[in-house]
Amino acid sequence: MILVTGATGSVGRHVVAGLLTQGERVRALTRDPGRASIPGQAEIVRGDLGAPDELGDALRGVHAVYLMAMGGAPRRFAELAERCGVRRVVVLSTSDVLDNVERQPDAVAELHGAFEHAVARTGMEWTFLRPNEFAGNSLHWAPQIMAGDVVRAPYPLARTVPIHERDIAAVAVRALTEDGHHGAKYALTGPQLITHADQLDLIGAAIGRTLRMEEISAGEAREQMTRYAPPAIVDAVLGQLAAAVHHPPAPTGTVEQVTGRPPYSFAEWAREHAADFR
Ligand SMILES: NC(=O)c1ccc[n+]([C@@H]2O[C@H](COP(=O)([O-])OP(=O)(O)OC[C@H]3O[C@@H](n4cnc5c(N)ncnc54)[C@H](OP(=O)(O)O)[C@@H]3O)[C@@H](O)[C@H]2O)c1
Repeated sequence: MILVTGATGSVGRHVVAGLLTQGERVRALTRDPGRASIPGQAEIVRGDLGAPDELGDALRGVHAVYLMAMGGAPRRFAELAERCGVRRVVVLSTSDVLDNVERQPDAVAELHGAFEHAVARTGMEWTFLRPNEFAGNSLHWAPQIMAGDVVRAPYPLARTVPIHERDIAAVAVRALTEDGHHGAKYALTGPQLITHADQLDLIGAAIGRTLRMEEISAGEAREQMTRYAPPAIVDAVLGQLAAAVHHPPAPTGTVEQVTGRPPYSFAEWAREHAADFR
C-alpha cells in the first residue's frame, strides 16, 4: 500500500492516477474526504499532517509514502512513519533548497529543507523531488484573464522553466515503485526557459485571444499576496522571481532521464488547461 499525501493537490492527484494506472494499491490522504475528488479505486483516509500522531491508521500496512511539505511537523511524521514500517518516502520539495548550508536562503527553502532533513535522518529510503516553478502557478492569472485581456503581475521578464505537474508526478511514481532512486535529489524542470510574459502569450494562444501583461511593482504584488499567504513566504516567492529576471534556472533534463520521455511543454500544459482560463 502506498500513502499519497496531498492527494487532492496539483501534483498529488496525478501521483494517485499514475499509481493506480500501474495497478498499485493507493491510500489517499485528505483533511476533508467530503470535498475531495479522488478516483474510486483509491482508499480515502482523513488526516492532517499537522497532527501526525493521529495518522497511525493512515500509515497501517503502508510501505511507501509520497510526502508533501505541509503541516509543519516533519520530524514527528517521519518518526511515526518509520515506526509504522514505512520503508520508502518520496518528498515533494523545491529547487530553492540548498545542500550543505547552515541556513536556507528563505522561508520556502527552510520549510521544505526541514522535511528533507526529517526524512533523511531516519533509516527509510528517501528521494527528494526538487521542482522549479509549476506551470499551474499561472492559474493565479485566471480571474484576470476571464475579466479582460490584461494581466497585472510583477516581474513579467522573470524567466523560469515551468514544469507540468504531471511530470513531477511521473517521477514520483517511478521513485515510489522502482528501486534505484534512494538518495536521489531530482532537480525537475520543464523543457524550456521562458518568461512569464511568454507564458501569458501561450495561454492566449491556447484560448484564441491576445493577452498582455502589465507590470506591477513588487510592493503592490506583496500587498495583494499577503492577503492569502504568510509574509515570509510571499517575500521568498517575490525574491525568487526577482532573481529569475537576471539569473534564470536552466532546464535539467531529469524528467526524461527518470521517466524515459520528454517533459510536457508549457504550450501543451496551456492547451490542456484552456477551460480553466475561459
Ligand atoms: N507552485 C510551485 O511553483 C512550487 C514549486 C516547487 C515546490 N512547490 C511545493 O509543492 C507543493 C504543492 O504546492 P501547491 O501550491 O501546488 O499545492 P496543492 O498541492 O495544490 O495543494 C495543497 C495540498 O496539500 C494538502 N494539504 C495542505 N495542508 C495539509 C495538511 N496540514 N495536512 C495534509 N494535507 C495538507 C491539501 O489536501 P487537502 O486540502 O485535501 O487536505 C492539498 O492536496 C508545496 O509544498 C509547494 O511549496 C511548489
